[in-house]
Amino acid sequence: MQAKTINNLIISIYIMSKVTVVGAGNVGATCANVLAVNEVADRVCLIDIKEGLAEGKAMDIMQTSRLMGFDTVVEGVTNDYSRTEGSDVVIITSGLPRKPGMTREELIGVNSGIVKSVAEQVLKHSPEAILIVVSNPMDTMAYLTRHALKLPRNRVIGMGGALDSARLQYYLSKALKCNANDVDGFVIGGHGDTTMIPLKSYMTYRGINVREFLTDEEIDEVVKATMVGGATLTGLLGTSAWMAPGAAAASVAEAVIKDQKKMIPCSASLEGEYGMKDITIGVPCIIGRNGIEKVLELKISSEEMEKLRASEAAVRKTTAVLKDLNLL
Ligand code: LAC
Repeated sequence: MQAKTINNLIISIYIMSKVTVVGAGNVGATCANVLAVNEVADRVCLIDIKEGLAEGKAMDIMQTSRLMGFDTVVEGVTNDYSRTEGSDVVIITSGLPRKPGMTREELIGVNSGIVKSVAEQVLKHSPEAILIVVSNPMDTMAYLTRHALKLPRNRVIGMGGALDSARLQYYLSKALKCNANDVDGFVIGGHGDTTMIPLKSYMTYRGINVREFLTDEEIDEVVKATMVGGATLTGLLGTSAWMAPGAAAASVAEAVIKDQKKMIPCSASLEGEYGMKDITIGVPCIIGRNGIEKVLELKISSEEMEKLRASEAAVRKTTAVLKDLNLL
């Protein structure tokens, strides 16, 4: 071929994107479904330890592809981590969910060993992947994943804040009697019933602070409902929720895969922000192709800062258990 012709060639390279979801339980399967329906990635690998479960859930999702009109291919795998190879993002949902009356923190003994071994296995096959941690207690599991595998902080994202903020937006929209897409607001701190902090100063209705529309009591009700949002559903369902957790994890994965640079409250390892180090806790982050690309330090009221300190103490207490369990 002549040089001139070569100069005129347009070379287009399409790089396939792949997300692995570990755990084909309620949260993992819902997450895989949202990833497919929203065509977040070209391929989704759903993997579970239970023989046939991931294959079944993946097949069920794929039988909706014509109905929903998506092109994403979801494949189910029993325990063969070599099939997760080449994942850009891995979402870890493995472990037990909480039962009514249980706290997320009570799951640490069972879930931490599972999460650590899952993270080790996925990294063998996708050494560059960004990891999104869903398993509870989520902040501690994100801390464990980062430190046990010695990963840089941008590569491990805890999804709790994305979920808690979605719940806050739901309760705000109910109080305002409006559509949830018209409200904003987010939650920082730990992903626990008493440790999360819905930020009143940043709750808005079409950009206007909700204090213009709601009384202090009504705002307090929204805050309270958000904090026990997960527990309320666990009581109603008999196990922990899955629709919003699955969709929240998928939305974080989408921000990574599509390099959206979205501001999402996530559990991130702090390196001096908010005066904290050596802790993984919920703060607003910019999420893009490199995972946590930036941690935002907001101006928060002294009352909210005090709550963040209390949340920090509680998260540190749970995270300290990892050492007792010889996991770090
Ligand atoms: C919840 C669990 C997934 O909040 O942490 O529903």
